[in-house]
Order: sequence, then C-alpha cells, then structure tokens
Amino acid sequence: MMRMLVAAFLLVSVLVVVAVAPGMVRGDERVAYRVAPDPPAPVMSSPWVEGEHVYFATNEPANKIFKLEAATGNVVWSRTMGTGRNGMRDSIVVVDGLLHVGTDNNTFAALDAATGNTVWAFTPPPQKCWDAKWYRQCEAYSSPLIHAGRRFQGSEDATTRCFNATTGDLLWTQHAGDQVNNSPVVDPSGTAIWIAANDGFMYKLDVSTGKVLSKFQHCGSSHTKPAMDNESGILFFSCFRPDPDNPSLRHGGIVYALNTTSNKALWEHQGVGGTVLHIKALNMVVVGRFDGTAYAADPITGAVKWEVTNLPNPKEFFGPFVFDEERGRIYGATLRGMFYALQPETGELLWDFQAGGMIPVPMGPRLSSDKMLVFFGSFDKHFYALNL
Ligand SMILES: *[C@@H]1O[C@H](CO)[C@@H](O)[C@H](O)[C@H]1NC(C)=O
Ligand SMILES: *[C@@H]1O[C@H](CO)[C@@H](O)[C@H](O)[C@H]1NC(C)=O
Ligand SMILES: *[C@@H]1O[C@H](CO)[C@@H](O)[C@H](O)[C@H]1NC(C)=O
Ligand SMILES: *[C@@H]1O[C@H](CO)[C@@H](O)[C@H](O)[C@H]1NC(C)=O
Repeated sequence: MMRMLVAAFLLVSVLVVVAVAPGMVRGDERVAYRVAPDPPAPVMSSPWVEGEHVYFATNEPANKIFKLEAATGNVVWSRTMGTGRNGMRDSIVVVDGLLHVGTDNNTFAALDAATGNTVWAFTPPPQKCWDAKWYRQCEAYSSPLIHAGRRFQGSEDATTRCFNATTGDLLWTQHAGDQVNNSPVVDPSGTAIWIAANDGFMYKLDVSTGKVLSKFQHCGSSHTKPAMDNESGILFFSCFRPDPDNPSLRHGGIVYALNTTSNKALWEHQGVGGTVLHIKALNMVVVGRFDGTAYAADPITGAVKWEVTNLPNPKEFFGPFVFDEERGRIYGATLRGMFYALQPETGELLWDFQAGGMIPVPMGPRLSSDKMLVFFGSFDKHFYALNL
C-alpha cells in the first residue's frame, strides 16, 4: 500500500516537474517536429500546404520564407525577403507554381515555389501608416486571393490591388477610406470579390475593373478572412470597434451573416466579434471570439448550438478554427499560445497544446495533405508540426 502511494506520489511529482521544467510545454508529446528560423524570428502568418510540402514565413529580423518537406520538417529552401521591417504578417498562397506573399515593406511578391526565386515584385511608393503612437511604413497585412488568373490583396495603405497573377502587371486599384487589412474572398458569381476595410464597409468589387458594386456598413475595423458559402450566398465575417489610442483595445464587435444577394444581414451577433469558420458538412458556423471563448451557430438563423467559455488559458482567437473532416474535430489557436482540439458538435475540449508565445495564424492552422499533422507558427520563434 505504502509502496503504491509512494509510486503514485512519484508519478505525480514527475508529472509536475515535467509540466513546469523550462523548455517543456504542455502537450509537448504531440510535437512531431519544430523548426527554428535562423536568425530567430516570430511567426505570425498561417502556413500553406501543397502536396508533400509546407511553406511558412517569419517576421523580422529573419524576414524569411521556408519550404519544408511536410512529413519531416527538412528544409527544401529558405530565402530572405530583405532587411529591416520586411517580415510577413499576411499568409502565403501557392497557386500554379507561384508563391504569393506581401511584406511589411508593402511589397507584393510572387516567387517560384520550386526555387524561392523572385518571379515578380511590386512595391508602391512608400507611405506612412499611423500606429497609435507613431508613423511607420504601411504593410501588406491582408492575404492574397488568387482567382481567374488574378491576384487580389488589400494593404494598410487603404488600397485593394489586382495583379495579373502570372506577370505582376497591376490591373486595377481601388481605394477605401482607411486600411484594408481584411483578406478577400470570391463572390459565388465568380465575377466579384468581397473585402472589408477599416473605414466601416464591406465592399463588393468587380473582378475585371475593381468597381464598387455594393457596400455594406459594418462596425469599424476588420482584419480576418471572411467565410463564403457559395450555395446560400451568405458571407460570414466580423468587425470590431478599435480604440483610436490603443490598437490592442477594442470596444466590442459584431459577427455578421450577410446575404450577398440582398446586401442585408441575415443575422448579427453583438459582442466582442471573432473569426468565423463555416462547416457545410455540419451545417454550422464556428466562431473563435476575440475574448478567447468560442461558439457554434446555425448559418441561416444564427441560433447558438453551443458555447464554451472555460477553455484553459483563454485569450483572443486571431484566426479561424479549421475543420478536420477525417476525425470530426476542429482546431484553433490563440494569442496566449494555446492550441485547442474541440468536438464540433458539442464544443467539448479534446486536447490542448501550449506554445511559448502567441499563435496568431490569421487564416487558421493548416492540415498536412495526408491529414496526419497540423501546422502553425508562434511568436516563440518556432514553426510547429503536431501529430493529430
Ligand atoms: C522597401 O520599399 C522601398 C520602395 O518603396 C525600397 O526602396 C526599399 O529598398 C525597400 N526596402 C527593403 C528593405 O526592401
Ligand atoms: C496575364 O498575362 C498573360 C501574359 O501576358 C496573359 O496571357 C493573361 O491573359 C493575363 N491575365 C489577365 C487576367 O490579365
Ligand atoms: C465558390 O465559388 C467561386 C466562384 O465561382 C469559386 O472560385 C470557389 O472555388 C467556390 N468555392 C468553393 C468552396 O467551392
Ligand atoms: C437572400 O436575399 C435574396 C433576395 O432578397 C433572397 O431571394 C434569398 O432567399 C435570401 N437568401 C437567404 C439565405 O435568406
């Protein structure tokens, strides 16, 4: 009996020691591999998976893009995008052999995905953006959308641009009243895109000309990627009311289901706002809120199906959850470095993982092609592959 108690006590002690030992993190046994950029740099953007490869990008001082073998983490190539403030806060998109990314220098670049060499790059004349206390160069914060041979992307310089995706020719620009940090999505018609600006409007822009076809007034700023359901034509997105003096303070937000045909909100949820995943197979939207809680709702009525308010170590979901269809799970991450696996029907927490820094993933974490791994980067200056 005594022996068993001692053994149990030892086991508990060992677990406690493991849990608090420096360099060890909660859920560490899930790590398939982690990659540290050299020089060390935070990873903000979401990775991109294509076949057997995964790409990720870092902020300064590395300003690097990496192509890895997804299964092993072996580096295929890496390259820097420049010096100084030249990191990547937007997320990589790889289409037709070209890697599209924007930088903190407001450069819109396309690289050869096989080699990392620059195929084309466009940098508008430098412009200053107000950042609560000082001016700094405007950044490309919105992620690229490739559609119909074109690349669409917003920028902090209050402009949405359309390039020929292959050649980089600037086909049109459309100006908004404030920064365009939202990431565009395609209209079900295929002839328009939707993108929100921090001037309080969600815009529908013509693919060929950039002309404003309609606009919908939201509550202020929007920096996430909306979710479009082609079948119903509903656009799910959110906005927040920023504090003009403190970019990390917000005065609430709204989650919308916008009927893109009538340009009227089907429903709206007042609160703190959040980032939305639409899961067609389960007929639900899942919202990771800006206060670290999450909920699921019916896409048509907005009726809440479940809500979780007690996730461990809660903090803002900066990017949306992703759906693992194979296992019937959803994965999301937060600005306190927590990564969660939830049961989408109930919101039950299945497991979690703690990184050593924020996990912003603006487009959400990514699954490997074989659905065995999930990828994300962290401000703890590592890129992670976790076993599912
Ligand atoms: C940033 O962009 C400007 C042009 O707007 C260019 O002159 C400058 O060299 C770029 N800086 C870096 C570090 O690439
Ligand atoms: C992009 O440029 C190529 C080469 O000039 C051209 O064939 C293609 O039609 C252009 N695409 C668009 C959308 O303008
Ligand atoms: C939705 O429709 C657009 C435009 O036709 C298309 O580009 C996009 O791939 C479709 N999305 C899905 C998930 O089918
Ligand atoms: C969206 O609006 C159109 C036009 O008013 C209407 O026909 C359609 O049923 C609406 N869609 C939904 C999902 O309510």
